[in-house]
Amino acid sequence: MDLNIQFGQALEQKGQMLFVPLFSGDIDTNARVSTIDELFDGQLRKEFKRSLFTGKKEQELSIPTMGRLPVSRIVFLGLGSKKKFDLDALRRLGGRMYKLAKQRKVRHAMIQFEDLPEVTEGKKEAVQAFSEGILLATYSFVHFQSKKKRKEPKAVHLFYTDKRSRISLERGIQQATGFANGVSFARELVNTPPSHMSPKAMREAAEILAKEHKQIKVKVFEQDRLERMGMQATLAVAKGSEAPPFGVHLVYTPNKKAKKRVVLVGKAVTFDSGGLSLKPAEGMKTMKIDMGGAASILGLFKAFSWFQPAVEVHGIFLAVENMPSGKAYRPGDIVRAKNGKTIEVLNTDAEGRVTLADALSYASTLKPDIIIDLATLTGACVGALGEEIAGLMTSDDKLADKLLQASALSGEPLWRLPLFSAYASAIQSKVADVKNIGGRGAGAITAALFLEHFVDAPSWAHLDIAGPVYTEKESRPDLPYGATGYGVRLLARYLQAL
Ligand code: BES
Ligand code: MN
Ligand code: ZN
Repeated sequence: MDLNIQFGQALEQKGQMLFVPLFSGDIDTNARVSTIDELFDGQLRKEFKRSLFTGKKEQELSIPTMGRLPVSRIVFLGLGSKKKFDLDALRRLGGRMYKLAKQRKVRHAMIQFEDLPEVTEGKKEAVQAFSEGILLATYSFVHFQSKKKRKEPKAVHLFYTDKRSRISLERGIQQATGFANGVSFARELVNTPPSHMSPKAMREAAEILAKEHKQIKVKVFEQDRLERMGMQATLAVAKGSEAPPFGVHLVYTPNKKAKKRVVLVGKAVTFDSGGLSLKPAEGMKTMKIDMGGAASILGLFKAFSWFQPAVEVHGIFLAVENMPSGKAYRPGDIVRAKNGKTIEVLNTDAEGRVTLADALSYASTLKPDIIIDLATLTGACVGALGEEIAGLMTSDDKLADKLLQASALSGEPLWRLPLFSAYASAIQSKVADVKNIGGRGAGAITAALFLEHFVDAPSWAHLDIAGPVYTEKESRPDLPYGATGYGVRLLARYLQAL
């Protein structure tokens, strides 16, 4: 799908479909409507009345132009109240427009940039959000279906008449393209079945990224190396699986001297059966998503081909599969993580934190300014915040603010939960330094407090993305069924603001 900008009036162009967005109550005064209405000898506003189109949210009215205009059909899209319109509404609008074009088998869709509502963040952000909506909606996971899918739109043409808009338009589209490509990359990794997306496949994905981009280098740690590095915790989780584990360390170096070193750590459990503490069937069926944290980091690195942050960025993950077998680690085992701390394993299904113990210990050796981890860590976080919002846990208020700002701009919902230190008693072990499960309540928080044992850095934040990593609801067109790629845009925005 090609998203391009063209100088000129969309109303003067030949084409299949032109979209015109309208606020409710705007119909009588809108200049674009007046122009078209004149060409229709006053029939347009009458048709609005006849079909009860008022510009309410989700309303649409499709009108054939019957030779009165070069374009064959105009589709008016209701936007609802002007007051409630924001950046994310533009994102939704882009997705909605693309979806409509696809349903109607339109190959070329058009829209006039000046018809898009203005937002306080300015033109560049407006175009970017709108373009993200379109590009994120084009994604679908197709590799395992033999039936050819419905034909997709070839291009969306964004027309503009105000010459001063050009730079904003170009920058917005460029950014959106980079973000969307990063998100698609992450979605592909997560959607790919666990039979195919093994720890080795994750390693290979990282190696491909490093080959593609000269500012990205990769180091891979095989099993014997992980042993020598002291990553006993991760190796314990990997033991039950036939698939060998891999450690991956990506480094992005900016062209100019970096002001900061940001280390990103992702959970990379390619399939989480629960291990000997086996999950019930219902809870296991989507557990291919358990490498979503690492996938988003890979997606972010993919996006570095379109935008280059000014900071040094490290991406670290330890890819393993969590399986039950005669070789599997057991409840009651005690394992030592890379930083020397011992973990009493009481539930093999709390495996993510056990592998992250090593990954965070390793990250801490890199003299980071900031560590951020992304993990599909707990069902409890889904219980607390639902399927659309990720949990943020950190004791650094400044870092929290920056991440929440990045969330607002990116449209990836994030909510802070307290890293409440008094709850640490829940993970106190009588036989080791810490145990891998807490009590009944606050599961997302006790998991974060567990991770804190393995972090040694000036600043650290934990993002629990168990909810938003995946969707079966198709609640918005820019989040199609399956993996969402949550975190790619959030992290990209965070890095850009540094
Ligand atoms: N990968 C799961 C968490 C998860 C649950 C992700 C649902 C996405 C959707 C994690 O490894 C896990 O199993 N956590 C347990 C922890 C418990 C045993 C303390 C959980 O949340 O039930
Ligand atoms: Mn688990
Ligand atoms: Zn897991």
